[in-house]
Amino acid sequence: MPDLSKITCIEDLRAIAQRRVPKMFYDYADSGAWTEGTYRANESDFQKIKLRQRVAVNMEGRSTRTTMIGQEVAMPVAIAPTGLTGMQHADGEILGARAAKAFGIPFTLSTMSICSLEDIAENTDRHPFWFQLYVMKDRDFIERLIDRAKAANVSALQLTLDLQILGQRHKDIKNGLSTPPKPTIKNLINLATKPRWCMGMLGTKRRTFGNIAGHAKGVKDLSSLSSWTAEQFDPALSWADVEWIKKRWGGKLILKGIMDEEDARLAVASGADALIVSNHGGRQLDGAPSSIAALPAIADAVGSQIEVWMDGGVRSGQDVLKARALGARGTLIGRSFLYGLGAYGQEGVTRALQIIHKELDITMAFCGRTQIDDVKSDILLPGTF
Ligand code: FNR
Repeated sequence: MPDLSKITCIEDLRAIAQRRVPKMFYDYADSGAWTEGTYRANESDFQKIKLRQRVAVNMEGRSTRTTMIGQEVAMPVAIAPTGLTGMQHADGEILGARAAKAFGIPFTLSTMSICSLEDIAENTDRHPFWFQLYVMKDRDFIERLIDRAKAANVSALQLTLDLQILGQRHKDIKNGLSTPPKPTIKNLINLATKPRWCMGMLGTKRRTFGNIAGHAKGVKDLSSLSSWTAEQFDPALSWADVEWIKKRWGGKLILKGIMDEEDARLAVASGADALIVSNHGGRQLDGAPSSIAALPAIADAVGSQIEVWMDGGVRSGQDVLKARALGARGTLIGRSFLYGLGAYGQEGVTRALQIIHKELDITMAFCGRTQIDDVKSDILLPGTF
C-alpha cells in the first residue's frame, strides 16, 4: 500500500481507479446517459456557486457532526447505493460498509450489489446499514427481500423511484456490459492486464448478484439470472406501491430520485422520512437539470415537512457544504466512493472520506461557521445560486 497522504483529492483516486479497474467496469461507473450532459452538469453546476469568505471569526471548536433521519453521522454524507460495486474491487460492498462504519457514516447496499445483505451483516458484526430497494415485478421476491433486510439489521430502506425503465449508456452497450454480459475480445484482453483486480476476483466467491442469485424464482445460473434481472424492473410502479412497501417494511423510509416539486409533495404525502433529490448520477434522464440546480426549489417547497437530501456530482467537502447551504440536510456519494474503492479497496474509501471531511471542515471555517448545523444559504454569494 503506497503512502496515501499524497492522494489529496477525489480526482487523484479517480485517475488511479481508471488504471486499476478493468475498462468495462470503470466505464460502467464513470458514465452517464446519452450525451452525458446531465452527468457533467451535476459536477460543473457546483462550481458556479461561490462561497462568502469571512475573516476574524473564531474558528475553534468546529464540528461536522449532525444527524440524518435521527441517526448521528460524523458528517452529512452517506454512501449511495451502487450496483455491481463488487466488480470495481472484489468484495467491494463489504469493504465500503466497513470503511463507512469506521468513519461513522451510513452505507447503503444496492439491490443490484454483488455481495448480499447477509454478506454485509456477517462481515460488519451486524452493524446497522441501509438497503436500497428496486421495485421488481415479482412482489413475492420483494417481500422476501424486505424480510431478509430486517434480519440483516438494515435500519433504513431507500426506495429508488427513477428506474422503472433503464437509461441508456453508450459505453455499456459498446463494452458488451449487457444482460447477459457479452464482453468484447478487447475487454477480455484489458481484463488480463489488471492482475491485482483478477487476483481479487479469484480470491472471492462473491461474483454474482448476491441479493438475487439463489433467491428469485427460476434463477438457477448466470444465464437465468441475467434474463430475470433484465425483465424485472417494473414500468408500472406507482405511489400505491410506495404505500405498500412502506407498510410491509414498517421502518424508516427514504425516497430516492425526486427531481420535481410536485413529486416532492407526493413524497411528503406518502409519509416517507426523507427524500433524495437525485437524477441517478446522470444515468437515467439525460437533459434533466443537475441535482444541485433542482435542490433549492424542492427544499423551499417541502424542506419543513420532510428531510431533504441530495446526490449527484458531490466530489468534495465544498460540494457537501454548498448542498447543505441550499437545504440538503444530507448528501450521498456514488462515484467519489467508487473511485476510492477501485483505487485502493477499503483504504481508498477511507481516504475519500478523509478528503471530503477535511475539505468540509476547512471550508466551513473559511465561511465563518464552526457548526455544520449553523450553515445556511447566507454562506453563499447571492446571484451565484
Ligand atoms: C448508481 N446509482 C444507483 N442508484 C440506485 O438507487 N441503485 C443502484 O443500484 C445504483 N447503481 C449505480 C451504479 C453506479 C456505477 C453509479 C455511478 C450510480 C445512483 C447512485 O445511487 C447515486 O444516485 C449517484 O451515484 C450519485 O451521483 P454521483 O455521486 O455518482 O455523482
